[in-house]
Amino acid sequence: MKIFIDSGNLKEIEALVPLGIIDGITTNPSLLAKEGGDYRALLKKICQIVKGPTSAEVVATDAAAMIAQGRDLSSIDEHIVVKVPFTKEGVKACKALSAEGKHVNVTLVFSPVQALIAAKVGATYVSPFIGRLDDIAGSGMHLIEEIVDIYENYQFATEVLVASVRHPMHVVEAARLGADICTCPAAVIEAMFKHPLTDIGLEKFLKDWEKAGFKL
Ligand code: G3P
Repeated sequence: MKIFIDSGNLKEIEALVPLGIIDGITTNPSLLAKEGGDYRALLKKICQIVKGPTSAEVVATDAAAMIAQGRDLSSIDEHIVVKVPFTKEGVKACKALSAEGKHVNVTLVFSPVQALIAAKVGATYVSPFIGRLDDIAGSGMHLIEEIVDIYENYQFATEVLVASVRHPMHVVEAARLGADICTCPAAVIEAMFKHPLTDIGLEKFLKDWEKAGFKL
């Protein structure tokens, strides 16, 4: 399963990419707004650091303007993936941009039928928001299971990009269900590295070695 960072923050991105486990990145208007400044320059820098699929979202609400914004965002860097919201207009824009060979990520997906439609119009990625479903007492993971099943039934090439991830167990469950990608906030990626038994075990190994007076 691929791991993407869900962030627009350069410090976080620069700290995580050297780990060698980051396959791409997702941003959204809220994440970029939090950073401020020149969003084009920021997206360019992010692409240069990550060197992988970098989702950048349109903010228009009608298909023609979404398509124009998608083309403009694509011109920033070859790694840009145009993110469109799941609306009728977004679906039309996805179809048109995909037909031009652009990679499109259909976002704000909360139901299996939305994911089916996104695949039918050639989305490269579909982004079900699992945390936001869990927040309202829904089941984000059940949604992932349904989408993975549907895509397998029809051999859709659209990749399931699990979004709105809140904790490492979301990553584990997504991987068990065969999702293609999990996009994680930096804090979740940090948490994935932590295990107290690893820390305790390492401390003991190093102490025992030191006690023996060995040199390596
Ligand atoms: O990038 C989209 C998604 O991951 C947002 O997550 O935490 O705002 O629900 P969240």
